Amino acid sequence: MLARLSLLLALTTAAITVAAKPIVIRDSPITLPIARRFNLTGVPSILKQDQARAKVLKARSQGQGKGASPKKAAVFPVDVTNQAVDYTVSVGVGTPPTFYDLIVDTGSSNTWVGAGAEYVQTSSSVDTGDEVLVEYGSGLFFGEQFTDTVTIGDLIIENQGVGAAELAFGFDGVDGILGIGPVDLTEGTTSSGEEIPTVLDSAFSQGSIDANVIGVSFAPTTELEVTNGVLTFGGVDDSKHTGKIAYVPITSTSPASSYVGIDQSITYGAAGTTILPLTAGITDTGTTLIIIASDAFAVYQNVTGGVPDNNTGLLKITQEQFDNLESLFFHIGDNTYEFTANAQIWPRALNTAIGGDEDSVYLIVADLGSDSGEGLDFIDGFSFLERFYYVYDVAGSRVGFATTEFTNATTN
Ligand SMILES: *[C@@H]1O[C@H](CO)[C@@H](O)[C@H](O)[C@H]1NC(C)=O
Ligand SMILES: *[C@@H]1O[C@H](CO)[C@@H](O)[C@H](O)[C@H]1NC(C)=O
Ligand SMILES: *[C@@H]1O[C@H](CO)[C@@H](O)[C@H](O)[C@H]1NC(C)=O
Ligand SMILES: *[C@@H]1O[C@H](CO)[C@@H](O)[C@H](O)[C@H]1NC(C)=O
Repeated sequence: MLARLSLLLALTTAAITVAAKPIVIRDSPITLPIARRFNLTGVPSILKQDQARAKVLKARSQGQGKGASPKKAAVFPVDVTNQAVDYTVSVGVGTPPTFYDLIVDTGSSNTWVGAGAEYVQTSSSVDTGDEVLVEYGSGLFFGEQFTDTVTIGDLIIENQGVGAAELAFGFDGVDGILGIGPVDLTEGTTSSGEEIPTVLDSAFSQGSIDANVIGVSFAPTTELEVTNGVLTFGGVDDSKHTGKIAYVPITSTSPASSYVGIDQSITYGAAGTTILPLTAGITDTGTTLIIIASDAFAVYQNVTGGVPDNNTGLLKITQEQFDNLESLFFHIGDNTYEFTANAQIWPRALNTAIGGDEDSVYLIVADLGSDSGEGLDFIDGFSFLERFYYVYDVAGSRVGFATTEFTNATTN
């Protein structure tokens, strides 16, 4: 405990410088609205935040293995960059439930509260006696591990592992995280070291959902605050996609294999210029942009003519370059997903919200900050998932995508 605390304090100092019976739900799946929100004051760079997160995601799983302390390996001082864009759901904890706004995260698997609103203990709260520590790149939290009743829409999950933050950094404006990634990521996050079943795992094992699957629907938006996403626990929402859902297995390449990782290649335009050769990376609801390895990014910058913009951290192109911008093609399994020119730009109505000029055009494909070949060479973040329906099939260890009515939207 003391060692952990002093480690934590060292880290945060560095960082700051910058019992009822389960209710069986018969009408599974359960859907829940997702809200998207910007923190105008906290912005300066979404890129910085995404890069910090990518660095931690890569390091976290590399530190895992027999005898290793994964969290310790992952804990290194990075500037905590406040979440600039949050995608949250309202989740109840306790009996009666206190509701918390939690970030929806497929890139981590612990569920915790207390960053904003404090954890309220009720008759269903059980202190496990364990401490819990997770570092995210865009923040970290440290606290006490409980089990409690969690309410997600109509879904009631008993004995769910829930962290109660004593310290949390980088999560201003939200209350914590709903971690829906692979359960392995919870290993070593508490002092007992054991895995903590995710909310999905618990709901499934308690018979409250029919399948250990989560469907995610997002839509492009030009508003700062909007509730336009839908999270579906236990299945997919067929009203949210137009094409058939095509599945690929989770990649076998580490460290992407520790996450909701896939293999993909990316080409540009009618000529099929290779931007990113076939490689492993991850899909992640906790990342805003599409992040690709530096060598791939150099090619993308070249074909688009984009110039790095210091204010936003993104590539900036002229109106003429935008007029000539061609589609990116994401090749995933046997399918190709066309990511249009309009999809590749930051919504212009929100330019000033990220420190850009009203009339400029900024690209949302950004630099990972390290070259390819490290087993996590891209992150398909929210900007990608806004264009394609997304399914994480935990039990089937596979990921699905489908076109939606927004795939070709020109709203940006
Ligand atoms: C926005 O970010 C700033 C700076 O990180 C923080 O102080 C503030 O509390 C945040 N506000 C909200 C509503 O998230
Ligand atoms: C950029 O384009 C030029 C001209 O087509 C080419 O010579 C150069 O190799 C390209 N650089 C990269 C990184 O693709
Ligand atoms: C952007 O920042 C870099 C390095 O910090 C600097 O060299 C460059 O001059 C800046 N560009 C503009 C247009 O301000
Ligand atoms: C998007 O547009 C392309 C052509 O520009 C077309 O081939 C494709 O079918 C469209 N996709 C959807 C989902 O509407």
